[in-house]
Amino acid sequence: MLHDPNHLYIFDTTLRDGEQVPGCQLTTPEKIEIAKDLERLGVDVIEAGFPVSSPGDFQSVVELSKAVNDVIICALTRANKNDIDVAAEALKYAKRPRIHTGIGSSDMHIKYKFNSTREEILQRAVDAVKHAKSYVEDVEFYAEDAGRADLAYLAQMVEAVIAAGATVVNIPDTNGYCLPDQYGAKIQYLKEHVSNIDQAIISAHCHNDLGLATANSIAAIQNGARQVECTINGIGERAGNTSLEEVAMILKVHSQSFPNISSNINSKMFTYISGKVSSMMNMPVQPNKAIVGKNAFAHSSGIHQDGFLKHRENYEIIRPEDVGLDEAGIILTARSGRHALKHHLERLGYDLDKETLSDTYERFLVLADAKKDLNDEDLLSLVSN
Ligand code: KIV
Ligand code: ZN
Repeated sequence: MLHDPNHLYIFDTTLRDGEQVPGCQLTTPEKIEIAKDLERLGVDVIEAGFPVSSPGDFQSVVELSKAVNDVIICALTRANKNDIDVAAEALKYAKRPRIHTGIGSSDMHIKYKFNSTREEILQRAVDAVKHAKSYVEDVEFYAEDAGRADLAYLAQMVEAVIAAGATVVNIPDTNGYCLPDQYGAKIQYLKEHVSNIDQAIISAHCHNDLGLATANSIAAIQNGARQVECTINGIGERAGNTSLEEVAMILKVHSQSFPNISSNINSKMFTYISGKVSSMMNMPVQPNKAIVGKNAFAHSSGIHQDGFLKHRENYEIIRPEDVGLDEAGIILTARSGRHALKHHLERLGYDLDKETLSDTYERFLVLADAKKDLNDEDLLSLVSN
């Protein structure tokens, strides 16, 4: 598959790895609402669910496939025919379907999860990819627990699944085990030892058991990964997954260290989407969470306040407005003018020309008359129509 080597593909798994967390379950309409926001945010791939896991998950993938047009909709499977058949059925309305299939790659998983051998697992991996490929062009393979897998075997597996048709190879650090230099070296090793690696995108999927998910994902990008799998607020199994907003802001703040790498993410939506995911999924954001925590831009000690007031950049490496925080305190009502509307749309990353702004303003007035408290979601619905 031809892909842009300078584009960092953002694969969001909030609705799959994130939604798996106890207490985070969403209804299908709620998932559609979040998926539409993810689409506006600029993600490239939405992992919509694991269709074989329950009728509800199946239905969500069907409905998301119908509702979302501009991004790839991905469904997870294990490496067996039935899972893949069910995923393909759930994806049948997707404009850009992807099947994400895979199997354990560490000796630990091979022995104690599958009671199998490296040879058998390799064959199952290849068969799964071939079967998925009979349904869709876009097949992603995950080598579960790659973080602890033997490198030579991992390389053999990756080479075999690419030869079988995988277009993306996911190297999950399933247990959040690796150190950043180890994970980066793993990606580098695959680049050097897998003969057909240029035919696929390498994807990083990191868990946060040691608090290293974001650091590991960044190390992967530095070593050639061009897709990162992440979630809003870093929600996910156990200690969570890589946080989407952290990766995006690291790339922005350190853009000189990542020349030529860009994503389509509109960081100005972070505050809004973080709050939405947190409240819908009943998962509070810790106050000191990077980028979206309540205290992420609060300066409390005297020394810091003094320095900040002398020059913001003494203590601020990110401008709050770049993540959609509104410091101006301008309230929107039916009495607000175009300028106030423009201010809020710009805060959310929308810079409209004069004519579009006028048209949006007319619709805004109708909405503001009907609804007292306009929120960011209302504004986004105005610009999406
Ligand atoms: O963490 C993991 O290994 C996963 C795979 C199923 C992709 O979530
Ligand atoms: Zn995972």
